[in-house]
Amino acid sequence: MREVIISPSILSADFMKLEDEINSVKRAGVEWIHIDVMDGHFVPNITIGVPVVKSIRKKTDMFLDTHLMIENPEKYIEPFAKAGADLITFHIEACKDEGHVLEVIRLIKSFNKKAGISVKPNTNIKEVFPYLKDLDLVLIMTVEPGFGGQEFIHECAMKIPVLRENSDEKLIIQVDGGINNVTAKICTSLGAGSLVAGSYIYNSENIEKAVENLRK
Ligand code: DX5
Ligand code: ZN
Repeated sequence: MREVIISPSILSADFMKLEDEINSVKRAGVEWIHIDVMDGHFVPNITIGVPVVKSIRKKTDMFLDTHLMIENPEKYIEPFAKAGADLITFHIEACKDEGHVLEVIRLIKSFNKKAGISVKPNTNIKEVFPYLKDLDLVLIMTVEPGFGGQEFIHECAMKIPVLRENSDEKLIIQVDGGINNVTAKICTSLGAGSLVAGSYIYNSENIEKAVENLRK
């Protein structure tokens, strides 16, 4: 079985010591960092933008998994790609039609980046089916996007096997929101290949142990 990719969300990290916070998950053997970008329109919160991604890129060789929770994603693909994002995931709900989705995917690919699409809890997973052959990852939100530290919505996890059955094994199924040692197990046993975890990792006393618990 392929190893599960853990992607710690720095939304729950201490921004005054971001470099240390990133290095501590790296020491725990993690290769990805999840960066939550929010614009105050698509979601009711504002977080990290392009300059922060650029600064992170200068300090680490880790894989930068960038989760755009923003309107008009097409306007921001180039800046995030140039800032050093490795994977750019945008929301299907931020797109007006199929042509719009395809345009954003094409843009991401034009910068040689991996492309992901995300679905909110109330979006049917079938909505992503037309794009699967063009995508590297599908992110299934297991909370309403906007804030860290929310409770896992169990029904959302049932999208995982539906997507797994309808996709190539190369497609990474990522889950995000309320992931802890218990919900991680539920998601991986249903077929998730990547787990985003913010508060479970960064609010824990021992980061290495928290990462180890997720791996198990
Ligand atoms: C929520 C973000 C998540 C968030 C997860 O909108 O997309 O990545 O940081 O935080 P936890 O793991 O605390 O639910
Ligand atoms: Zn996220």
